[in-house]
Amino acid sequence: MRVADRVSPPPILTALLAQLVAQLVTPAITSAGDDPALLLQGALAALLGLALRLPWWWLPVNLLFPLLAVHTLSLGLPPWLFLIAFGLLLLFNWNSARERVPLYLSNRDTWEGINRLLPERETLRFIDLGSGLGGTLFYLAQRHPQHHFCGIESSPLPFAISWLRCRLRGLDNVELHLGNFWREGLGEYDVVYAFLSPIPMQQLHDKCRDEMGRGGLLISNSFTVPQNPPDESITLNDVRQTTLHYWHFGTARRRGVPTRRSHAGA
Ligand SMILES: C[S@@+](CC[C@H](N)C(=O)[O-])C[C@H]1O[C@@H](n2cnc3c(N)ncnc32)[C@H](O)[C@@H]1O
Repeated sequence: MRVADRVSPPPILTALLAQLVAQLVTPAITSAGDDPALLLQGALAALLGLALRLPWWWLPVNLLFPLLAVHTLSLGLPPWLFLIAFGLLLLFNWNSARERVPLYLSNRDTWEGINRLLPERETLRFIDLGSGLGGTLFYLAQRHPQHHFCGIESSPLPFAISWLRCRLRGLDNVELHLGNFWREGLGEYDVVYAFLSPIPMQQLHDKCRDEMGRGGLLISNSFTVPQNPPDESITLNDVRQTTLHYWHFGTARRRGVPTRRSHAGA
């Protein structure tokens, strides 16, 4: 079972539930519709959110949400502005609510760090799971024209931007796909790179262990797997002191796991 399926419901739905309950309960405490009443409603939602085990940073979000929502609506902004803002957020963060992996980008020092970790082989197949705007792939692809680089991204807008950037750079050793990497077989890749969140890491580790061929390498930016500590970790000298964790897999390839090549042929 996928981790994302086990983590239910997503925090945003829990927060919504807390807000709905607070909105129902508040009129029983006060009939006023002023700012203190809205703050009381927010405080109830925030406490409920904590009781429902939302991370601490939801507390200020839940606390201020009713107050800010009412005041924003009172500005009389045209409704299409909200629709556009919502649409952009959705296109940039297609499945963040479910997967709990937002878009943030690896920096240049990290690209260089990954470059140093690449095994010395004549040809390599490298995949970036959740490739964002494609920066990591483009950096490596320019330096290693003999290797093949693949990116898979589920959010339409980052995918479209990366696709355009790739065309503009004329990189023919980069392949980009819009899709969900959990449906991607990893058997044909030598190196898997992931910059995700703590949530999917155990499952990702297990997927790589089960599917990658002999000598497969998983590199994770920042996030490790408590039950399966990395073979090694290096900390880079960048502003955020990025740590790259990596695991080598020595098992033979498993049969029957679909790969992108087999998808294409299907
Ligand atoms: C933290 S960003 C990393 C972007 C890029 N790899 C980098 O290092 O610059 C994570 C990306 O993974 C994408 N993502 C999350 N879950 C995914 C999934 N199941 N399939 C494909 N992409 C996913 C998100 O949309 C987001 O763009």
